[in-house]
Amino acid sequence: MTTIPEHERVRLEAVARDDLPLEELIARRLRGEPLQYIEGTAAFGPLDLLVDERVLIPRPETEGMFDLATRMVRSPEVIVDLCTGSGALALALKSRFPSAAVFATDISHDAVEVATDNRYRTGLQVYLAEGDLFDPLPTAILGTVDLIVANPPYVAEVDFDSLPADVQWEPKVALVSGPTGLEVIQRIGASAASWLRPGGVVICEIGEKQGVSATSSFMDLPAIVRQDLTGRDRYIVAVKP
Ligand SMILES: C[S@@+](CC[C@H](N)C(=O)[O-])C[C@H]1O[C@@H](n2cnc3c(N)ncnc32)[C@H](O)[C@@H]1O
Repeated sequence: MTTIPEHERVRLEAVARDDLPLEELIARRLRGEPLQYIEGTAAFGPLDLLVDERVLIPRPETEGMFDLATRMVRSPEVIVDLCTGSGALALALKSRFPSAAVFATDISHDAVEVATDNRYRTGLQVYLAEGDLFDPLPTAILGTVDLIVANPPYVAEVDFDSLPADVQWEPKVALVSGPTGLEVIQRIGASAASWLRPGGVVICEIGEKQGVSATSSFMDLPAIVRQDLTGRDRYIVAVKP
């Protein structure tokens, strides 16, 4: 990038201060730093969340998962958000379903710190825990969960270098899952059924070419692939019988 578009300049002007001059912000953007990291915030559904290099910038596709989830469940009592990052899905779901108990986990200490800041910023009381997928969840909710959402890392190690430059600013742990890209999805698929109550729903974001292989990862559940607003395969959805 050699110049920045006018609409980005306007946004950077709004962030500039005496101790953070516009020229410095433009230089950061020209080096490829995502606009939202420079601004320090990103919109997600009804919320405006803090973001920085410790977390993935929440995406429109994930807002699509939030919308899908709110259409699929009525009055959930227990919600789990795996791989919560900035806390986007957990906090948006808590704001939509205030009486639900919302549990969110992330393996990254940095991400849990940002999610904790966002919990404070929004005043939404969700349970946040650092650890691997379901491990930090209280066993008392086994078999009781109404809704599991997850936007896991799903890029294959070999594909990381070909991601767009601004995406490579984001944490690798948020993007890369392992040699095939399916590793984390497969582990979610293997355990989701035991945490759901009968009739409970799991929705997992996937890469657009992962529909067939990701569906077979949810072996204990009748999983289907759903598309995003642009028609790409982006979500695995399953309801526990
Ligand atoms: C694609 S980001 C999604 C963040 C957020 N849910 C969103 O949609 O904006 C994936 C997140 O998963 C976390 N993560 C990666 N491996 C994990 C694991 N085994 N258990 C829990 N979290 C994990 C990363 O730290 C990162 O925050």
